[in-house]
Amino acid sequence: MITTDIDKLIRPHLVDIKAYEPMDPPELLAEQAGISPDKVIKLNGNENPYGGSPKAVEAVANTPLHIYPDPLQRKMRRALGDYTGMDPDYIIAGAGSDELIDLLFRLFISHGDAILDCEPTFGMYGFCARVAGGEIRLVQRDELFEIDVGDVRDAIDSKTKLIFISSPNNPTGNLASEEQVRELLETGLVVVVDEAYFEFCNQTVAELVERHENLVVLRTLSKWAGLAGLRIGYGIMSPRLVNHVIDIKSPYNVNVAAEAALLASLEDAPALMANVHLIVEERERMATLLKDIPGVTPWPSHGNFILCQFAPGRAGEIFDALARRGIFVRNFSSERLRDCFRIAVGTPDQTDALIAAMRDIV
Ligand SMILES: Cc1ncc(COP(=O)(O)O)c(C=O)c1O
Repeated sequence: MITTDIDKLIRPHLVDIKAYEPMDPPELLAEQAGISPDKVIKLNGNENPYGGSPKAVEAVANTPLHIYPDPLQRKMRRALGDYTGMDPDYIIAGAGSDELIDLLFRLFISHGDAILDCEPTFGMYGFCARVAGGEIRLVQRDELFEIDVGDVRDAIDSKTKLIFISSPNNPTGNLASEEQVRELLETGLVVVVDEAYFEFCNQTVAELVERHENLVVLRTLSKWAGLAGLRIGYGIMSPRLVNHVIDIKSPYNVNVAAEAALLASLEDAPALMANVHLIVEERERMATLLKDIPGVTPWPSHGNFILCQFAPGRAGEIFDALARRGIFVRNFSSERLRDCFRIAVGTPDQTDALIAAMRDIV
């Protein structure tokens, strides 16, 4: 083999980049805990414990796999238009909303441009910024994890192009208000409101898109529709922006299985929303049970997860003890969330197992 110093050929800012903090698959988690995979209680990915619609599973099974998908996503955009109440010209689908986040970076961020991140928040914005060679202006949320719009405005400089707002915010669970989004839109920068958990709270700023060309709303079918493994999300933005995204995306970005599953899921939305209601009810039950455990403080949440705060220094040890029992939650490396971890809302049985284990450990 001819060897060369391949690192010299890689774009300099990517040579030492750290991968996105990954989530291990259930088989690996099972091995780690020394249990069989069906015993794993996986509450680390904000996934839907009820899975996808059986109609989506059937639609995928009946989809011919040898034909490329429609690059202009006509059927999907029409169906999403009906679902959201928006004109299909305002909609574009991606391989998960993660792909759309990445496409927004390709569209707006050149080397040295900056994004604004309201910490703590979803890690993909910062990750994509690093991959794009962009800079990250960090604005800390206040003690209740609320955004201070004044702080955000103060952090904007000549390089800033994108402002990311996750609402509900992953991992803190709180919402940004429409008023806050409107104020941020006045900056003229592109404001990306990530509504991955919209169906769990029913609060949206999508209707502002028609009047604000600098607003992008992102949604996904990973959470409410249980399609995380298929990778399908969408964005709501001005038709002009949609066309720019179409011009730069890879032509067949959403595969035919994901397309079939999306169409079937939207038709089966009432049944899927019944599961969403179960999850919302379970979230409140879980919050009440968590509150009763000494030293445990659950933050109020509008998503399908709860951020839990522990007495100083205890989160790591409780996290490890849960993992040894086959219960996996999400921890964070940031200083601000050192005493916290995030728990996805599962089935009632999973909640009961989690609470029993936590009582025992604490
Ligand atoms: C706020 C937020 N945005 C986007 C995503 C990614 O969604 P998708 O699975 O559609 O890529 C997640 C996933 O956890 C999320 O929490």
